Amino acid sequence: MVTTELTVRAPAKINLHLGVGAPRPDGFHPLVTVYQAVGLYDDLTVRAAPGWALGVDLPDWMPAGVVPTGGANIVDRAAALLAEHHGVVRSGEVHVAKAIPVAGGMAGGSADAAAALVALDRLWGLHTPDDEMLALAAQLGSDVPFALLGGTALGTGRGELVEPVTDRGTWWWVVVPAETGLSTPSVYRHFDEMFPDAPAEPVPADALLRALAEGDPWALADALHNDLEAPAVDLRPELGELIERGEAAGALRGIVSGSGPTCVFLCGSADHARALAADLTDPAHPVVLAANGPVAGAHLVSYA
Ligand code: C5P
Repeated sequence: MVTTELTVRAPAKINLHLGVGAPRPDGFHPLVTVYQAVGLYDDLTVRAAPGWALGVDLPDWMPAGVVPTGGANIVDRAAALLAEHHGVVRSGEVHVAKAIPVAGGMAGGSADAAAALVALDRLWGLHTPDDEMLALAAQLGSDVPFALLGGTALGTGRGELVEPVTDRGTWWWVVVPAETGLSTPSVYRHFDEMFPDAPAEPVPADALLRALAEGDPWALADALHNDLEAPAVDLRPELGELIERGEAAGALRGIVSGSGPTCVFLCGSADHARALAADLTDPAHPVVLAANGPVAGAHLVSYA
């Protein structure tokens, strides 16, 4: 049977450890990071069609106009790259239903790119080998290979080299998106301004990896680490206040997610996460989400 329509779901990520080194000659920063995929997803549906079209649906709580369209979306680029790699024509009607905060430090764009690679590979009948999918993903963005892999993984290089790690926990997070996003390059630039003497080698993730292998939430809380938190909080001081508020309200630990401005709070159980989410909901943060991790990377959920 020829597939004519299918949906791929791709998760948001958080960085449990984000060690950042001094910029490399190519301008990227060397990273030692531990990614975790959490249960907040964008769904991407593709339909066979002669031309190329992309539509994006946002939930009510996301400000309109935050997602690039008109050919400038990372999904357009992912499709063009895959088509070029195989020498086929880019075609299809693509629809993205977003739920991952945009420009939030949760790799929502990377999730969409990974979903597009998986969906179009299937729609176009390409059977791209995994190593080629990962290489194409790395060309689209540092976080895209992880969005394919999912679970909990160590990321090195500029974040694009990923390998699964032992994670014996099921972790519960409260996710607090901000109304206005932060640009990742500007947070990295501010890191360079604040830390001109950053070491070439990023801080290793040993303590964090031990905590994951033990499955102990208190050890994990202690070991969470994000070198981009200081620049993100310096650019947005209210993030520091939010983290203090979440910890005072009972979170085991609060941390900026990636380059921010989304903040995530580690909780001891699903009930704890739901209660904290309710506590943190206020006029400045009308949408507060609870999500568990680790979850799967980009995966097919329906086809016809
Ligand atoms: O790889 P990606 O396109 O997601 O990166 C977006 C921007 O974030 C880069 O242009 C760069 O400014 C910054 N970045 C960085 N070092 C990394 C990853 C991203 O400086 N390891």
